[in-house]
Amino acid sequence: MCGIVCYVGEREAKGILLEGLKRLEYRGYDSAGVAIQNGSGVHFERAVGRIADLERKIGTRPLDGTAGIAHTRWATHGEPSEANAHPHRDRDGNVFVIHNGIIENYRALKKKLEGRGVSFRSETDTEVIAHLVALHFEGDLCEAVRKTMLQLEGTFGIAVIHRQVPGKIVVARRGSPLIIGIGENCHLAASDVSAMVRHTNKVVHLLDNELAVLSSDEFSISTVQATPIERVTETVDWQADDAELNGFPHFMLKEIFEQPETVRNAIRGRLDYSEGIPRLGGIAPVWEGLKQCRHLVIVGCGTSYYAGFVGRYIFEKLTDIDVTVELASEFRYRRINFAPNTFVLALSQSGETADTLAAIREARRKGASLMGVVNVVGSSIAREAGAGVYNHAGPEIGVASTKIFTSQLTIMSLLALLLGRHHSLSLTEGIEAIRAVDALPGQISRVLSLAHAIEAMAEKYHLKSNWLFLGRKYNYPIAMEGALKLKEISYIHAEGYAAGEMKHGPIALVNPDMPTVAIAPQDSVYEKMVSNIQEIKSRRGPVIALVTEGDEEIREIADDVIEIPRTLEFLYPILSVIPLQLLAYYCAKFLHRDIDKPRNLAKSVTVE
Ligand code: G6P
Repeated sequence: MCGIVCYVGEREAKGILLEGLKRLEYRGYDSAGVAIQNGSGVHFERAVGRIADLERKIGTRPLDGTAGIAHTRWATHGEPSEANAHPHRDRDGNVFVIHNGIIENYRALKKKLEGRGVSFRSETDTEVIAHLVALHFEGDLCEAVRKTMLQLEGTFGIAVIHRQVPGKIVVARRGSPLIIGIGENCHLAASDVSAMVRHTNKVVHLLDNELAVLSSDEFSISTVQATPIERVTETVDWQADDAELNGFPHFMLKEIFEQPETVRNAIRGRLDYSEGIPRLGGIAPVWEGLKQCRHLVIVGCGTSYYAGFVGRYIFEKLTDIDVTVELASEFRYRRINFAPNTFVLALSQSGETADTLAAIREARRKGASLMGVVNVVGSSIAREAGAGVYNHAGPEIGVASTKIFTSQLTIMSLLALLLGRHHSLSLTEGIEAIRAVDALPGQISRVLSLAHAIEAMAEKYHLKSNWLFLGRKYNYPIAMEGALKLKEISYIHAEGYAAGEMKHGPIALVNPDMPTVAIAPQDSVYEKMVSNIQEIKSRRGPVIALVTEGDEEIREIADDVIEIPRTLEFLYPILSVIPLQLLAYYCAKFLHRDIDKPRNLAKSVTVE
C-alpha cells in the first residue's frame, strides 16, 4: 500500500528519495510523487504508473535540494491519476504533504474549508491536511501540524514540508507506521525500514499521536499534546543486500530459495536437545500466564491466516489447549466470549496489517492476553502484542508471502512443543520433535532441488484456467495456501479444498481440463487421500500429487508426482508448501505476469 520516504541532509535528496521509493515498490502502488525544497522554493513532480514513469517525467529537470518527501500511492479515495497522486499542496503552494492511511472525517473538514473559500484540486482525503496546515501556520511548522492532528480522525502517517521552513521535515503518526532513520549528517523517515537500509540501520519508531521534526543534524519527538519524548535508538539487523535480487529474476524466487536459511534462523539457538524443549526468550513476559493457557485464538490475514490454520492442528497435536483460528478481518464481527486463561496469537509478516492490529486491540479490550509472531521488529503488532517471537527472516519483498509462512509454521511448532512439554508430552517425544525440526533446513534444500522438475510441470499445465488443490488435516490449509499462491501471482482461478469435501461439490468440476494438486504425504490420512486421487482419475482429471519420497502407490495413479522428504506428520506442511510456491511461481513466469508486483495487490494492507 502507500509508501513514504523522506530525506534531509547534506546530499541531493532526489536520487535518495527515488531509490527509496523503488525499495517500497513491492508494497503495491499505482502512482508516485516527490517534492523537494530548495532555498525558499519547493519543486514537485507526480506521475501515474511506476517509479520509472516518475523518473521519466522528471527527466533532466533539476529538482535540486537537500530536503524532500516522496510517496507511492495505492488509491483509496479517487482514481489513480496525477491530480490524486501525492504530494498534495495548499492553495498558495507553501505546504506539501504526503500521507498513508485514511482521514475518516475528511468530508466534514473539506466542507468547512470550502466554506472558507478553499478550493480543492484532488478527490483525495489527504488534501485537507495540506490546507489545514497552511491555515494553522504562523511560522512554526511543527505547531501547525500538531493543531492539524487534533482535527483529524482516522489513520495517518504524514510528512510535511513548508516553503518558508527550509531544511526541516515534520512527520506525524496515528495508526500508520513511520520510522525515523538516523544517518550520517542526515535524517530519513519512511513507512518501512527497507526504504532506508542503504543509508542507515539506526532507527527510532514513532508511536501513535506523536510527531517529529527532522533536520540534517537533529531530530526531536513530541506528543500531540506537546510533551517532549526521549526514545532509544534501535539497530535493525537487515542489510542493504537483503533488499537486492542477488542474481534471482524475482524477489519471490529469491525468498523461496532463502527458506533453508530462514527456517534455520527461526530455530537458531532455540533448541535444547537434553530437555527436549525449545527456548523462546520473547515470551518471557507472559510465560507464567501462558503456562495456564487453556484457550488459544490465532488471528491473521491472507497467508498468515493459513499459517494460523496449520498452527491450530499443531497446537492441538502437541498441547492440551483448545484452539480456534479466526480471520482477523472478520474478528470484529464475532461475539467471542473469552474464557479465563485465553491467549490471542497474532501472526503477521509486516506487523502492520490493519485488520490484525484491530483484532488484537479488540481481544485485549475483552481481557485476552496477547502474543505475536511477527517478522518486522518494532512494528505496530509486535509492540501492541508486547510478547512473542520474531521470525528474523529478513525483509520479505515479494507480494506473495513465502518464506514467512514456513518460518511462522516453524515458530508455532516450537511454541506448541514448549507448551506441550509443560502439559503431557514426554521427554522422548520432545527430543524426537526437536530432532525433526532441526532436520528441516536440510530437507527444504532437498525440496528446492526439484525446482526444474516443478518448472516442467508448470510448463505443461500453466494454460489450464481452473485448478483444484486438495489436502486433509495438516495439509488442508496447505491446499488453500497453494491455491492462494497460484491466484495471487498467475491470476489462474484455483480453489483450495478439504479433500473430504470434494464429494460435496468440487468433484462436479473435475474434467480432463482441470488439474488437481493432491497433497498426500504418508501421514495418518494417506489412505483417504489415495481414494480421493482415484476418484479424480476415474473422471479423467489430471493429478499432480505431492507424496513422501519413495511412494510407489500414488506414482502409479497420478499424472505427475513431486516427492518430499519424510518427517513427523505435524511438520509436513513446512515441506509440502514449498513445491506449491514453486508451481505458482513458474506458472506465473510462463504467463509473463508481474510476479513481485501482482495487479491490485499490496504487500502490506494498512487500511481495513
Ligand atoms: C497481504 C499480502 C499477503 C499477506 C497478507 C497478511 O495480503 O499480500 O502476502 O499474507 O497481507 O500480511 P501480514 O503482513 O499481516 O502477514
